[in-house]
Amino acid sequence: MAARSTINREVKLARHSTAELLAEHFAVKECDVPTPCQDDVVVRNRWFRVSVSTRLMAREGAEAIEGIPFPPLRPGDTLADAAIGEVIHSGSTSGVAVGSLVMHSLGWREFAVVRGSECTVLESRNTDPAAFLGHGWTAYAALTQGVQIHQGDTVFVSSGAGAIGSMAGQIARQLGAGRVIGSTSTPDKAHWMATELGYDAVVTRGNGPLIDQLKRAAPDGIDVIVDMVGGEQLSASIAVANEGARCVLLGALTAELDSKRATLQAPVELDGFQIILKGMTLRGFSASEDASDMFDAWIHQQEAWQREGVIQLPCTIFKGIEQAPLALQEACAGRLKGVVLVEL
Ligand SMILES: NC(=O)c1ccc[n+]([C@@H]2O[C@H](COP(=O)([O-])OP(=O)(O)OC[C@H]3O[C@@H](n4cnc5c(N)ncnc54)[C@H](OP(=O)(O)O)[C@@H]3O)[C@@H](O)[C@H]2O)c1
Repeated sequence: MAARSTINREVKLARHSTAELLAEHFAVKECDVPTPCQDDVVVRNRWFRVSVSTRLMAREGAEAIEGIPFPPLRPGDTLADAAIGEVIHSGSTSGVAVGSLVMHSLGWREFAVVRGSECTVLESRNTDPAAFLGHGWTAYAALTQGVQIHQGDTVFVSSGAGAIGSMAGQIARQLGAGRVIGSTSTPDKAHWMATELGYDAVVTRGNGPLIDQLKRAAPDGIDVIVDMVGGEQLSASIAVANEGARCVLLGALTAELDSKRATLQAPVELDGFQIILKGMTLRGFSASEDASDMFDAWIHQQEAWQREGVIQLPCTIFKGIEQAPLALQEACAGRLKGVVLVEL
């Protein structure tokens, strides 16, 4: 392949945003594909993931954060996220054959030049991109390594329609949960969660006090909390938790997607007495830091669950790289379901 002569289209940060992230903060630019060295492969990307965490990195003054696999962005920087594509050129020492389907971390561009050692070769060419790029594995790792589900438990998943949440609710059921409750923002999403994802009840933010909604949704209390949101949703679920309840904290969307200012500070008021008297356990968990070895286990487990027809991989797909900034805007605004992918 004459890599240098191939025009690449990449999505770059046009300017920082402290408030809402809009498509106009990004620009799709044409540039040359970098020259690969002998250890590199050139990948024609087919899908890449769009993550709301990008918002933290698009703030002015953003710094690298351990546990968040994206670098801080400056105007002119190309965005990055997990991607799947086909190897169209292979350096002599890259160790990856031309034609291989690989997963790597340089999405948001049509062609990526990646070290062969930083690619994961996918065995099957007919793979569902949502199984690999989605957050099923994050949810699976959190629900097997971060917290234990006991048979018949009532489980509450905040942001239950999101990339992690849409998988966590389904996985909790397969691991033995008796009642699964989720949270979302709109009646439309709540209906989808109940009918498609099997949630027994859904509470909606902005629809009255969460604590009252949760008491109605979980009349026998909550045993396991899978929290992606923080704020009122976390404090209300702890107030409704049972003795011995376990809580795994995965994200803080209230802070990350605050409409005025994305921030890494996510203060929340919790009733310490409740936690002590109920003997509760609260654990922060990062799948990539605490359980990166769970990825293969997830791929095998989801294949088995898919064969049984007991799980689905919810996904919103945008087609074409020019749609990618809009995909991020819509994801941050809460208008999408499941993992968000761009197909090229
Ligand atoms: N610990 C880990 O290993 C790990 C890995 C990846 C990501 N994360 C973190 O986990 C969290 C969830 O990630 P995700 O990719 O699954 O995100 P997500 O749930 O898909 O996030 C988008 C959703 O957030 C909700 N939302 C939007 N604005 C909100 C606000 N102001 N307050 C509360 N919710 C709001 C909306 O859902 P509704 O409209 O349904 O409310 C929206 O659809 C993030 O904080 C992310 O950084 C953790």
